[in-house]
Amino acid sequence: MKLCLLLLCVCRLGLTEEPSTAAPHVSGTVDEDEDDSAHGCGGTFSPKQHRAIGGAVERLGLQLLENLPVSPQQPNVILSPLSLALALAQLTLGARNETEKLLLQSLHAFRLPCYHHILGSLVPHFSHTSVEVAARMYLRPGFEVKLSFVEDSLARYKSQPVPLVSVEEVNQWVENVTNGHIANFLESIPHDVVLMLMNAVYFKGEWQTQFDPSVTSKGMFYLDNQNSVPVDMMKSAQYPLRLLDDPELEAQVASFPFKGNTSFLIVLPRGNVSSVLPKLNISDLYGRLPQEKTMQVNLPKVKLQYRQELQEALSSMGLSSLFSAPDLSGISDLPLRVTGVRHASTVELSEEGVEASATTAVTSMRSVSLFSVNSPFLFALVDDASLAPLFMGVVTNPAPDHEPMLRDDPHGNGTMSDQPATNSVRKRHTDGGLCSSRRPCSAPSGEKHVNELQGSDGQEKTQGDDSCLKPDNAVAA
Ligand SMILES: *[C@@H]1O[C@H](CO)[C@@H](O)[C@H](O)[C@H]1NC(C)=O
Ligand SMILES: *[C@@H]1O[C@H](CO)[C@@H](O)[C@H](O)[C@H]1NC(C)=O
Ligand SMILES: *[C@@H]1O[C@H](CO)[C@@H](O)[C@H](O)[C@H]1NC(C)=O
Ligand SMILES: *[C@@H]1O[C@H](CO)[C@@H](O)[C@H](O)[C@H]1NC(C)=O
Ligand SMILES: *[C@@H]1O[C@H](CO)[C@@H](O)[C@H](O)[C@H]1NC(C)=O
Ligand SMILES: *[C@@H]1O[C@H](CO)[C@@H](O)[C@H](O)[C@H]1NC(C)=O
Repeated sequence: MKLCLLLLCVCRLGLTEEPSTAAPHVSGTVDEDEDDSAHGCGGTFSPKQHRAIGGAVERLGLQLLENLPVSPQQPNVILSPLSLALALAQLTLGARNETEKLLLQSLHAFRLPCYHHILGSLVPHFSHTSVEVAARMYLRPGFEVKLSFVEDSLARYKSQPVPLVSVEEVNQWVENVTNGHIANFLESIPHDVVLMLMNAVYFKGEWQTQFDPSVTSKGMFYLDNQNSVPVDMMKSAQYPLRLLDDPELEAQVASFPFKGNTSFLIVLPRGNVSSVLPKLNISDLYGRLPQEKTMQVNLPKVKLQYRQELQEALSSMGLSSLFSAPDLSGISDLPLRVTGVRHASTVELSEEGVEASATTAVTSMRSVSLFSVNSPFLFALVDDASLAPLFMGVVTNPAPDHEPMLRDDPHGNGTMSDQPATNSVRKRHTDGGLCSSRRPCSAPSGEKHVNELQGSDGQEKTQGDDSCLKPDNAVAA
């Protein structure tokens, strides 16, 4: 199982400046209000404080998921609430007045004392897990940035200042820190971009109980009542799983533990995923999961990629002023605004590893229950200690490039053991139009094409290719 991701914030001046080759200029004006001891935020933090931050990251993630609805063109959404929280929090360090308040509000951090210190302290904590977080701050040479912002970013979020030299160098860094999973992240960087805040979250975990690759075989994933796609289904007749049936959510919830203090939660609704989302409370579900039981499990083997501009979603979450006239005077006295927030992530579910262990302790209990992930689901990869969601997503079509097939036999004939018993209680769609509306799923996984760097004032027309936010076409099939 691998996951990786990257998020980017671009800020620019109101007026275009010719790029200079000088080193970034760090001005010496230090704000006094960021002193550790003054806030009493030094030292270590309690599990309870980490949980509070984890809850804030979860709320941010849920809110974002609700603002990034799935569609036939974009049937899967994968994002890292942690990555987004880290990037927005770093921006908050340089925000003042209303802008700072607004950012803290959307981070759900308004009533959390020492927010920056505790969130920042999660990063070294992750070195005890399979999570890697890398951050970098690219500064345009000649851009005057306040020393306090650079120092705080480094102290809190380990974000190293680096001169912005070329798009190739940026892309190389992205490729490096995502272990090659995200290539050609940017096409170009417009001249008026003076600062880019970037962070990458990379996760490579091993299931505590691995799947045997020789058992993986083709199975069906039911998109809705009429359509299905074939997927490789990882199977286990005896898998230790914490499984909960939540009557209120009308969903099955299961937790697959990874080695190293992280868990993969799957929420499999009987109805549709979008109606479950507003009711979701991951930390609550996590706490209510019962003891592990051995059961039959089917899990699709998938590799999904997702790239998305987040400006629209963040604007509808109340952050539109970031993109018009924010107060970022903690970064520079020059007028700045955010011109793009780009997010890329990939998720891969696999048997991991190939040495599919005969050593796995399997109790000889007869398996009676079945957890079969063969219809749209939500997932969250959480850190067991803080319960902060590192990744979250909605998967409605694990094989978006595959032409959906008509499910001609919705009740199976006894050999379709991977079909959940719950299928029969699903609501039938009566419009009959789903079939055709699902057709576009066969198009190469839909990517939203938004040219966010174009000034909204239209003042300076950038060339079509002069946008680093134009999605490239290098998405693996
Ligand atoms: C989840 O529920 C708990 C109480 O069980 C509550 O404290 C917490 O704030 C809720 N989290 C979210 C994200 O709503
Ligand atoms: C913003 O905050 C600074 C202090 O950080 C203050 O001097 C300034 O007047 C404030 N500006 C506005 C528009 O509120
Ligand atoms: C990427 O990794 C290579 C090999 O480790 C290293 O030489 C190079 O400096 C790295 N590039 C960046 C931009 O981090
Ligand atoms: C998981 O956390 C425990 C403490 O909660 C720690 O002792 C252990 O080393 C961690 N496991 C890994 C693989 O880091
Ligand atoms: C999900 O259900 C809601 C109401 O239950 C409905 O409005 C919505 O169209 C459904 N979405 C999909 C994708 O079927
Ligand atoms: C029922 O299962 C048998 C055995 O696998 C298969 O050959 C047959 O096509 C199935 N019938 C239907 C209607 O799906």
